[in-house]
Amino acid sequence: MDFEEKVGKEIPNKRIYINDVVMRDGLQIECNFIPTQQKIEMINALSQTGLHKIEVTSFTSPKAIPALRDAEEVMMRINRTPSVKYVALVPNMRGAERALECKVDEINLVMSASDTHNLSNTRMTMKQSKAVLTDIIKAAKGKTAVNISISTAFGCPMEGYVDPNVVRELGDWFCSEGATGITICDTTGMANPIQVAKLSEGLVNRWPNLELTLHFHNTRGMGLANVIAGLMSGVNQYDASLGGLGGCPYAPSATGNICTEDLVHMLTAMGLTTGVDLNKLLLCARNLPSMVGHDVPGAILRAGKSDALFPPPIDFAEIKERALARAQ
Ligand code: COA
Ligand code: ZN
Repeated sequence: MDFEEKVGKEIPNKRIYINDVVMRDGLQIECNFIPTQQKIEMINALSQTGLHKIEVTSFTSPKAIPALRDAEEVMMRINRTPSVKYVALVPNMRGAERALECKVDEINLVMSASDTHNLSNTRMTMKQSKAVLTDIIKAAKGKTAVNISISTAFGCPMEGYVDPNVVRELGDWFCSEGATGITICDTTGMANPIQVAKLSEGLVNRWPNLELTLHFHNTRGMGLANVIAGLMSGVNQYDASLGGLGGCPYAPSATGNICTEDLVHMLTAMGLTTGVDLNKLLLCARNLPSMVGHDVPGAILRAGKSDALFPPPIDFAEIKERALARAQ
């Protein structure tokens, strides 16, 4: 069986769902505060690209994440497109109350699969987070969807190895408590494709009633390879960040997420459907460097799409003529 056949056979669901997290994961690590109006304009533009979900902000402590201290205003003033789910990250009950007041479509609760990162990030032990998140699921029942993002699921930058059983058991718990989705996060790009295949393979069947999402950072260049491993294990939903921005301010060595336009470009070239208009997405990405005040790591923005054609060298006719003359 050649690779194309194998990919066609192994990727059971050819519709892949893309969630953009640039306005949360991307901006939370930026030093400069982006004016609220600019954030709103970017979210409104992203809403027209065909994305499945947009994570628009986080309801965290403004002292912990000052870049997103305007969460309410952003959430209340964006134009909400009915086909898009508008998500906000939440670490505690106070955040959940704020998110519910703003009528988010989904609360994205966060905790880590390692105590050191969870304490650094949320000031709670894993046990404490688990209890708080469980209470939030109950409080949000019937009001909004609740996804759980499990950070450092493939490795912790401070503890190293994370036992996949810890991730599975956390997922099992939240599944039984009524979460609507689980996102498995590689917070600092430690995962490799074999590890991703091993963990995600069983999860599709283990949590058949949950939306399962994979969240990769490209810190060590393994991000898109990890997506292929996820696809071949049957996972059809991925987080990614416009321009490849992103990172957790409480994780040493954190850098950007896999880049949304690079991901859409790859999946489209492979014949998979994302529902995302790559040209519209690239227009959004083009505005990013001026918004954040620096270059962004995305590849397609710089190189163009793989079907873009470039003119040959200016002296091409002469080169060809000389080559043909030599051949005679
Ligand atoms: N929204 C707004 N303010 C909040 C809040 C929330 N969700 N949670 C706590 N606060 C405020 C409290 O009111 C308090 O304010 P005060 O100092 O003016 O009285 C202050 O923050 C400290 O509250 P406390 O409960 O002691 O929180 P903490 O200092 O232990 O911090 C978190 C805990 C979870 C709120 C904080 O670490 C946080 O927001 N972490 C998020 C990290 C993050 O987003 N990381 C990246 C994503 S993975
Ligand atoms: Zn992330």
